[in-house]
Amino acid sequence: MTESESAPPGIDVTRPSVARVYDFMVGGKDHFAVDRTAAEHAMAIMPDAPEAGRACRAFLRRAVRYLAAEAGVRQFLDIGSGLPTQTNVHQVAYEVDPAAHVVYVDNDPMVLVHGRALLADESNTKVIEADVRAPREILEHPVVRECLNFDEPVALLLLSILHHVHDSEDPGAIAATLRDALPSGSHLAIIHFWDPAGEHPRISAKVREVEQVFNETMGTGRWRRREEIQAYFGDFEMIEPGLVPLAEWRPGDEAPAEQTDTYYTMIGGVARKP
Ligand SMILES: C[S@@+](CC[C@H](N)C(=O)[O-])C[C@H]1O[C@@H](n2cnc3c(N)ncnc32)[C@H](O)[C@@H]1O
Repeated sequence: MTESESAPPGIDVTRPSVARVYDFMVGGKDHFAVDRTAAEHAMAIMPDAPEAGRACRAFLRRAVRYLAAEAGVRQFLDIGSGLPTQTNVHQVAYEVDPAAHVVYVDNDPMVLVHGRALLADESNTKVIEADVRAPREILEHPVVRECLNFDEPVALLLLSILHHVHDSEDPGAIAATLRDALPSGSHLAIIHFWDPAGEHPRISAKVREVEQVFNETMGTGRWRRREEIQAYFGDFEMIEPGLVPLAEWRPGDEAPAEQTDTYYTMIGGVARKP
C-alpha cells in the first residue's frame, strides 16, 4: 500500500501503529512505509520477528477452535483484535457454529475501517472502537450488551494486547475487571510478550534490546515475566498445557515449530472461570 493510494481519512501515516506493524509482520497489506521502517528496526535485533506473528495467528486459530468445539463457548469478546487477516476469530468460530457471536474491540481507527467493511454483511459479529484501558466502557458498550449475553459463558480474548498496557496503567486491574464481569464457565485466552529471564538468559538480554527499540518507536511494549502474565488469569483454572510458548499450546498435528529466538519471547494460555 502506498500512502497517497489508500490511507483512509483520519489515518496518521507519519507515525507507526502497532496494528499496522503487526499486519506487516503477518504478511498483510494494510501498512505504510513508517510501519515497515519500525518493523525493520525490530527485525535488525530479532530477524525472526515475523515468525512470532505467525505463531500468534496459529495460536489464535487453535485456541478459538478449542473454545468453540471443545469448551462449547458461543460468544467471543476479542479486545485488541487487530486488522482483519486470514482466518479471523469469527471465521474460526463459525466453522463450529455459524450462530456464534463475536465482538471485536480495538482503538486503532484503521482496524475499525477495515473491520466494518469485512463485517458489513454479518449480523452476529460486530466491531467497536474502544480502549482496553477503559474496561468498564467496553463491558457497558451498547453493542457489547446487545451482541453478547453475560448470563452465558463468554470467551474473553486478550491476544497480544496487555503487553501494550504500561505498568503504570495497571494491566492487572484491567484484567481483573474484565474477568469479574464474566459468568462461570467463561474462558480467558491470553498471548503476551514474554521475558524468559532465568529460563533463557541470552534471549532475555535480546528481549530487553527489542523492548527499548519498541518503546522508542511504537509506544508501549512490555515483555513481562511468566509469573506476572500468569497473574492476569486470576483464579481461573488453566486448561492443559498451561502457559507455554505459543507453538506448544495444543499443537495437534501441526508440524513442530523451529525453536528460533522469538519462540521464547511470546507465551500463551487459556483458562476457565470456575
Ligand atoms: C499485535 S495486535 C494483535 C492482534 C490480534 N489480537 C492477534 O493476536 O493477532 C495488537 C492490537 O491491539 C490494539 N491495541 C493496542 N493498544 C490498545 C488499547 N489500549 N485498546 C484497544 N486496542 C489496543 C492495536 O491497535 C492492535 O490492533
